[in-house]
Amino acid sequence: MRFFIDTANLDQIKEAHALGILDGVTTNPSLMAKEGIKGHDAIMQHYVDICNIVDGPVSAEVISTDFEGMVAEGKKLAALHENIVVKIPMIKDGIKAIKWFSDNSISTNCTLVFSAGQAILAAKAGATMVSPFIGRIDDSNWDGVELIQQIVNIYNAQGYMTEVLAASIRTPLHIVKCAEAGADIVTCPLSSITGLLKHPLTDLGLAQFLKDAQSL
Ligand code: G3P
Repeated sequence: MRFFIDTANLDQIKEAHALGILDGVTTNPSLMAKEGIKGHDAIMQHYVDICNIVDGPVSAEVISTDFEGMVAEGKKLAALHENIVVKIPMIKDGIKAIKWFSDNSISTNCTLVFSAGQAILAAKAGATMVSPFIGRIDDSNWDGVELIQQIVNIYNAQGYMTEVLAASIRTPLHIVKCAEAGADIVTCPLSSITGLLKHPLTDLGLAQFLKDAQSL
């Protein structure tokens, strides 16, 4: 399972990259706004800056919601760097745009996926990745990890090549459960990635080892 970081914060991207386990980055307009990035040129430069830190897929989301707009925007994003993946929302024109990008060998990440039916449609259109938002599903009293399992089973049964990118990860346990369910990729906040490190018995055990080492 590959690890992406879900942020537009360059310091956090650098910190995750320094761990040596980072495979890619996902962003969205909310994450870009959180970093205070404003204006077309600054947004484009920010994507390039991210690509210069991480050698792996970097999802950049279109703002347009019509087919022509998504294609025009996606072409510009894809031209920024070879690692850019054009992120397209799960709407009718989005499906048409994903098919267009697939036919033109441009990678896509179909975002805002909340059902197996949507994931099937994204795969049929040729999406490179599909992003079910598991934290937001949990927020609505459904089980986000169950959806990941269902999509993984369907893609395996049907032989779809689209990768399952579990998104809206909120906790280290989400990462573990997505690994069990067979997700291809998880995209997580830095806190969920570093949260995997934590266990009180590790801390206690290390403290004891260091204490005993003083008597050596
Ligand atoms: O990758 C999608 C993610 O950014 C959404 O996360 O926590 O806003 O549901 P969240």
